[in-house]
Amino acid sequence: MEKIEVKEAKGKLGILVVGVGGAVSSTFITGTLAVRKGMGTPIGSLTQLATIRLGKRNENRFPKIKDVVPLAELDDLVFGGWDIFSENIYEASLHAEVLKKEDIECVKEELEAIKPMKAVFDQDFVKRLHGTHVKNGKTRWELMEQVREDIRNFKKENNCERVVIMWAASTEVYIPISEEHKSLATFEKAMKENNTEIISPSMCYAYAAIAEGCPYINGAPNLCIDTPAMWEFAEQQKVAICGKDYKTGQTMLKTVLAPMLKTRMLGLEGWFSTNILGNRDGEVLDDPGSFKTKEVSKLSVIDTILQPDVYPELYGNVYHKVRINYYPPRKDNKEGWDNIDLIGWMGYPMQLKVDFLCRDSILAAPLCLDLVLFADLAQRCGFSGIQTWLSFYFKSPMHDEQHVPEHDLFIQHTKLKNTLRKIIGEQTIDYLD
Ligand SMILES: NC(=O)c1ccc[n+]([C@@H]2O[C@H](COP(=O)([O-])OP(=O)(O)OC[C@H]3O[C@@H](n4cnc5c(N)ncnc54)[C@H](O)[C@@H]3O)[C@@H](O)[C@H]2O)c1
Repeated sequence: MEKIEVKEAKGKLGILVVGVGGAVSSTFITGTLAVRKGMGTPIGSLTQLATIRLGKRNENRFPKIKDVVPLAELDDLVFGGWDIFSENIYEASLHAEVLKKEDIECVKEELEAIKPMKAVFDQDFVKRLHGTHVKNGKTRWELMEQVREDIRNFKKENNCERVVIMWAASTEVYIPISEEHKSLATFEKAMKENNTEIISPSMCYAYAAIAEGCPYINGAPNLCIDTPAMWEFAEQQKVAICGKDYKTGQTMLKTVLAPMLKTRMLGLEGWFSTNILGNRDGEVLDDPGSFKTKEVSKLSVIDTILQPDVYPELYGNVYHKVRINYYPPRKDNKEGWDNIDLIGWMGYPMQLKVDFLCRDSILAAPLCLDLVLFADLAQRCGFSGIQTWLSFYFKSPMHDEQHVPEHDLFIQHTKLKNTLRKIIGEQTIDYLD
């Protein structure tokens, strides 16, 4: 087996979050700081809680991932980031109304010290927000250069060995891939010519991250790093990238239930998914442009899993609809409701209803922690380009033009754990023993 040389996780790891003042980011940061003080349990995080089987089934070796995989320690993480509002992360956490005051107070000082840097923002890409804490620059290229400088300064001021960058900012309006996104040369030209329709603010952060050699995670569905130009740049700079759109609630369920139907060769006639959500993300997604980006991401799942071309009699005519409704009283406590019309033996119809009363940011926070630690690991392993082994965490897993994405949660999970086994020089597992 080819041995992977993993660089040691020594020194501080900077975590720079775009949208650091948002609900997901502040819940992630507050929770991580509380956990490392021993004041919370990192429920939902594989890196902190999950075990991994090593060797044959009868060897009985099930260590914790964090005890055998060389991940960065929570004590070595340093947080920072950008936002279009200047409030510090203590204020932002209170504002988000996700965590109870007592859970925020226990890390108040650390949170107050995290102050967002000015953002790259263009209201044409997030219609419902009016940013006040934003950078000025003549072109997208110039703004990107300012982000690069922020990264370098943060690294120096906080004595970081490495930095990982994650987009957890608002979902930008839908833009299709255009010619300019198809090669690095055309992309850079469009940035320099300030083609603001083609180059979104999120692309400025992503380009800056890659240019600085920092792994980049895209937690929202906007294109951002998912273009041939960015894949090319990431390969060229030997940087690990992954995305897009955290798979937390309804889509996580979909990627468990759809494989169940297919495994049992049960048919499907329709799948109607609706959500009510009252946080700032819900408000942004109330705009049709931002919703379209989310809709494309949420819709992609079923077709890929069910393969209607291969099974036309079961899945050839599925009506799939996804709605998100902004409903302020629910705040971050989303209700995701699914109605599934399935078909059994001899074509007899049945129904399955799922009502998930979840908490959006509580589901997303552990994914953020795992992703920053795994992205840093990938970079230290010398992995570059799209990290398909991290598809487990995404609604719309990035893949190049030669591959189809893998959506099934348990196949993704197997791939993730087998990659970890390879990294630590253990046999991968095919479950035949
Ligand atoms: N919570 C989940 O379960 C989940 C799942 C999948 C994806 N997401 C995505 O994660 C993102 C964050 O969600 P949230 O609930 O924290 O939303 P939020 O609105 O609370 O936070 C987004 C933050 O981004 C900031 N922002 C907007 N544009 C910016 C820019 N150009 N630069 C810097 N900051 C900017 C906003 O000011 C805000 O503080 C959204 O795109 C959401 O769709 C969330």
